[in-house]
Amino acid sequence: MGEEKYRDVIRRMTLEEKAGLCSGEDYWHTKAIERLGIRAIMMADGPNGLRKQDEKADHLGINESIRAVCFPLGCLAACSFDRELMYEMGRTLGRECRAEGVSVLLGPAINMKRSPLCGRNFEYLSEDPFLAGELAAAWVQGLQSQGVSACVKHYLGNYQEHRRMTSSSQMDERTLREIYLPAFERVVKKAKPWAVMSSYNRVNGEYVAESYHFLTEVLREQWGFDGVVISDWGGVADRVTGLRAGLELEMPTSHGYNDRLILEAVQEGSLPEEVLDQAVERILKLLERTDTGGRSEAFFDREADHDIAARMAEQSIVLLKNEDGALPLKKEDPIALIGAYGEKPRYQGGGSGHINSFFAPGACEIVGKLGYPVTFAAGFSDTEPGDNQKLLEEAVEAAGKARAAVIFAGLPEEWESEGYDRAGMAMPDYQNELIRQVAMRQPNTVVVLAGGAPVEMPWEPLVKAVLMTYLGGEAVGEAVVRILYGQGNPSGRLAETFPMKLQDNPSYLFYPGEGDRAEYREGIFVGYRYYTTKEMAVRYPFGWGLSYTTFSYGPLSLEQTGREDEVCRLKVEVTNTGDRAGSEVVQLYVGRRGGEVLRPLRELRGFEKIWLEPGETKAVTFSLDERAFAYFDEEAGDWRIEAGAYEIAVGTSARDMVSGVKLSLKGSAPKARRCTLNSTLGDLTANEQSRPLVQPLMERYRESLHRMETGGKVSCEAVPLQMVESMVRYMPLRALLSLGGFPISRKELLELVDRVNEVWESQRPGA
Ligand code: BGC
Repeated sequence: MGEEKYRDVIRRMTLEEKAGLCSGEDYWHTKAIERLGIRAIMMADGPNGLRKQDEKADHLGINESIRAVCFPLGCLAACSFDRELMYEMGRTLGRECRAEGVSVLLGPAINMKRSPLCGRNFEYLSEDPFLAGELAAAWVQGLQSQGVSACVKHYLGNYQEHRRMTSSSQMDERTLREIYLPAFERVVKKAKPWAVMSSYNRVNGEYVAESYHFLTEVLREQWGFDGVVISDWGGVADRVTGLRAGLELEMPTSHGYNDRLILEAVQEGSLPEEVLDQAVERILKLLERTDTGGRSEAFFDREADHDIAARMAEQSIVLLKNEDGALPLKKEDPIALIGAYGEKPRYQGGGSGHINSFFAPGACEIVGKLGYPVTFAAGFSDTEPGDNQKLLEEAVEAAGKARAAVIFAGLPEEWESEGYDRAGMAMPDYQNELIRQVAMRQPNTVVVLAGGAPVEMPWEPLVKAVLMTYLGGEAVGEAVVRILYGQGNPSGRLAETFPMKLQDNPSYLFYPGEGDRAEYREGIFVGYRYYTTKEMAVRYPFGWGLSYTTFSYGPLSLEQTGREDEVCRLKVEVTNTGDRAGSEVVQLYVGRRGGEVLRPLRELRGFEKIWLEPGETKAVTFSLDERAFAYFDEEAGDWRIEAGAYEIAVGTSARDMVSGVKLSLKGSAPKARRCTLNSTLGDLTANEQSRPLVQPLMERYRESLHRMETGGKVSCEAVPLQMVESMVRYMPLRALLSLGGFPISRKELLELVDRVNEVWESQRPGA
């Protein structure tokens, strides 16, 4: 349908029909208008499976949905660092949606992991916006390739569950632009999603669902979004303000209440009808974009998709520690399998993303079927804590009799859900104690951890190996067994930092805030940006993960191609130096030390996952654009590159750089600012053009200094000019009147100010 055609339909609609189209018919459907041939579409959660509810709808994962396949959750899938895998997950989900007649899948969920305590971290991807944005863009491209719309959520500022429907995320513009907006920006620009979900909360006092700035100026005008903004379920406070701001579709239904408010606002003239028409036009476009001509040819093959989920989990699980080759296990060795999650895997969280899984076998059952020599001890029970002492003793005994012990532990199911945050970062005491005691008895102890977020690991030095499965989806059991016994080679890398303890996290003092005020006082120093800059010890850094093989890196080389869209190109060769095939994640970081602007030590600006046979070498190239070096200059309201040297390095984690180069950049045009009597002498000398204008003042200051210090006994040249400059760098021009020690008038200073402004003006872009 061309735009004129939409307008033609809109002309034929009544005001009531137009207002009505801007909210749901029920929990999951939009409204149909049969007389005009406008169909209703269905939506479903997302993001890691299809939660399609036929009856008894709810958004908290309480009532049943159809049987579906639970893929690895965002927390694990992000550890794949694999765009192709994310594309495939999106495409597979898209096929399932088509088979089930679902037109919008509510995902991906890409909020930043500011605190390990956020109750929904298991759904989210990373603490790094570049990684989250790249992976989510691939997922959206995969999903939309099937004619099913993504709905990127939750835009914006929803980084805690605590008071999520009323709290305000308070942060400065630079933090927004560098940390919390860019993942959304990347997805919108790269993958062109057809829908975005506005979040429940406010940002800096204003509900996002009512913010013209975020919904229209940033999303549409600055990034070019051309889809529909859909409210989070029940996340509309003032419908008319929301519509005016750019919130086209309210979900679920408001039972006609808000439709009437829209109608009245148009009738009394407080809401221009064109605003309503535009929202309707965008909704019609979404209906058309997702019109795939019915559900007939697609088929939801649960068995096949389960296998895809297993492969994805295998490619994402992270081997955190592996001493003395504890892993892989030998299949002929007697092993004690311990822990409740070995029997019944923990593989998903609670809430709107909860999938009614088709089939979720535990690792113990799978190993048992393979016929390997294993024993099983429950070790603990989350639900019957009274039994735990007895279970612990049985487990320690079983561990003592085996060649190695594998403990399946982590976070209990009720500890992680949408709607509330975690109380702390510790695992239950009974599990920590179990691991400690088993490890004291059995030197070859391996821990397989499940849970949607980092945990404290007081027992880590005692165990030989740790495998992080996060919440790996329904097929995680199969993936874990393949990795434990070496049929699979671990290749996941952490998409977030594991701090030693909760108190180390930069948001610790301010999370979750007081009442409805959530202060983001750590600013841009989120996750590894904080830990690396502070050189703090962490349990495991961002980007960390081991393999059963080893890799070596050649030198990183740099080329400036002179292309307009590219600052430079980097290349590095990576070799598999071990005796097994495996995947390496090559990570590229950029940083700058000692500039005028506060910056993290380094930031992820590129990553590639490569598969290498033993002995094989592959070259990886990266292209960096201006944005990779820029910071957001609040004063100028734009991105800016500081002149000076930048460090570019490839690393195996945010902490471990293996090869780097330096690049000197001229920087972008100076800030649009004016000189006044309050400008410092340093501000004037820092600029090449204004420097000569202020030089005579420096000379005069040096002479007067020299007179004061020595009574004129030694030559004036004995006081180096550089030293004078350093001494007066932070002195405002006006202070020369009283502190300069030489005669100077206010008039003379004001003339200097005018001349400086003239040269600064001439330097502005376009001047
Ligand atoms: C959640 C969304 C979800 C929606 C519909 C809300 O409570 O925040 O992520 O898509 O419910 O279930």
